Amino acid sequence: MDGPRSDRRSFLIGSAALALAGASPDNAPVRVAVVGTGARGCDLIRALSTVDGAEIAAVCDDYAPHLERGLSYAGPKARGFDDLAKMLKEIAPSALVIATPLDRHFAMAVEALEAGCAVLCEKTMCYSIDQARELATLVEGRKAVFQVGLQRRANAIYEQALAMVESGMLGTISAIECRWHRNNNWRRPVPVPRGDARWEALDRRLNWRLYRDSSQGLMSELASHQLDVANRLLGGPPKRVIGSGGIDHWRDGREVFDNVFCIYEYEVGDGAGRRTIRVTYSSIQNNAYEGASELVLGTKGTLLLTQSKGLFYREGGADDPNWAVREGRVERDASIITSGKTLKLSNDPWAHRGKPFEIESTGDDTRAELVAFIDNVRRKDPATICDARAGLVNAATVLIGNQAMREGRSVPFPEGLAGRPKRI
Ligand SMILES: NC(=O)c1ccc[n+]([C@@H]2O[C@H](COP(=O)([O-])OP(=O)(O)OC[C@H]3O[C@@H](n4cnc5c(N)ncnc54)[C@H](O)[C@@H]3O)[C@@H](O)[C@H]2O)c1
Repeated sequence: MDGPRSDRRSFLIGSAALALAGASPDNAPVRVAVVGTGARGCDLIRALSTVDGAEIAAVCDDYAPHLERGLSYAGPKARGFDDLAKMLKEIAPSALVIATPLDRHFAMAVEALEAGCAVLCEKTMCYSIDQARELATLVEGRKAVFQVGLQRRANAIYEQALAMVESGMLGTISAIECRWHRNNNWRRPVPVPRGDARWEALDRRLNWRLYRDSSQGLMSELASHQLDVANRLLGGPPKRVIGSGGIDHWRDGREVFDNVFCIYEYEVGDGAGRRTIRVTYSSIQNNAYEGASELVLGTKGTLLLTQSKGLFYREGGADDPNWAVREGRVERDASIITSGKTLKLSNDPWAHRGKPFEIESTGDDTRAELVAFIDNVRRKDPATICDARAGLVNAATVLIGNQAMREGRSVPFPEGLAGRPKRI
């Protein structure tokens, strides 16, 4: 996997080049098509319609109500299709954005590459590690422009976090906790009653996330974003993972876990400095208290990261309860003398935090990832902010988590994908 330095470098170079784009002799807009005009596809179409230098030439969806909605955002120049092959043949776009269910990513990406398109494929890149390997090989063989839709890579807050970790502001990283907690059933409404003969097919289409043949559940849909952050902060993929998950709350016929808990082990450093850093991942769907965030815990400070705000807390020092010190002397039996009381300082989760430094960003990272992509397409530069190799590493990271939970064992990261040695 490309390390954070080169990710950031390519993004910054891309942004700089974009500023110069007006000076390019070829100012014709990049003709883009979008396949999959559901929830995410429509977000991408709306954002794309604000990107200078991009023209939405066509959109495609084989579900008429979604196609209609996609067309309503795409602008008057866009044509509508219900078949990808037909759209690629008739429109011959320079780039295809893929926002279809996970099980369709691989075949559609291959089809687009074979038609000579650059591709922006939504996360997770592929349904299986084998597919992701094959796709990465194909992309690299063709030197194609290919980007995976992990938009935190285009988010200034995460760039700032990487710089802070690299500069040592957090000290030595102790652990990273990632979580995405919600309180809803993750179901989309089906527009016919349950008894209707069309219900099952419509449910499978609209609620593809809940079924094993089309989805890898919470790991592919949510963890992919956050474990990409962990991989970047730690300079490479994990060594192995253990986990536990189940369908324990929403027993409504779904086939994917409604709660997942994984511990990833990363090995960093060399020789005597070699050590293990653990990254926890959890996602639940019946309590939203913790929300979605990544918490990076270091010996000198803690970073709480979200897409819209980051908070940096300096460490206050070692846990040393002041009440145990009398006249400059540590009374080792102070805890016994005061037995019955609690160690307030240590147990109070807010005691150490103090006032945080805020990292704010008003930018829209979905739009920013599209700006970066269009720029790469224009320059025919395969070094996108999240290339197919990074997409493969990301897919492998989330998919071994699912495997560990299903098989109840520790699963190693697949051989031959790990890339360069760890940075820290
Ligand atoms: N990056 C993000 O923040 C983010 C957010 C949400 C979803 N996503 C990703 O976007 C993708 C789509 O998710 P969604 O929530 O928009 O799902 P969705 O169900 O709302 O939309 C998927 C669309 O694909 C269409 N489709 C399915 N098969 C097709 C085919 N053969 N030809 C043409 N159209 C077809 C469906 O009809 C549907 O309209 C997934 O990969 C998901 O992980 C990413």
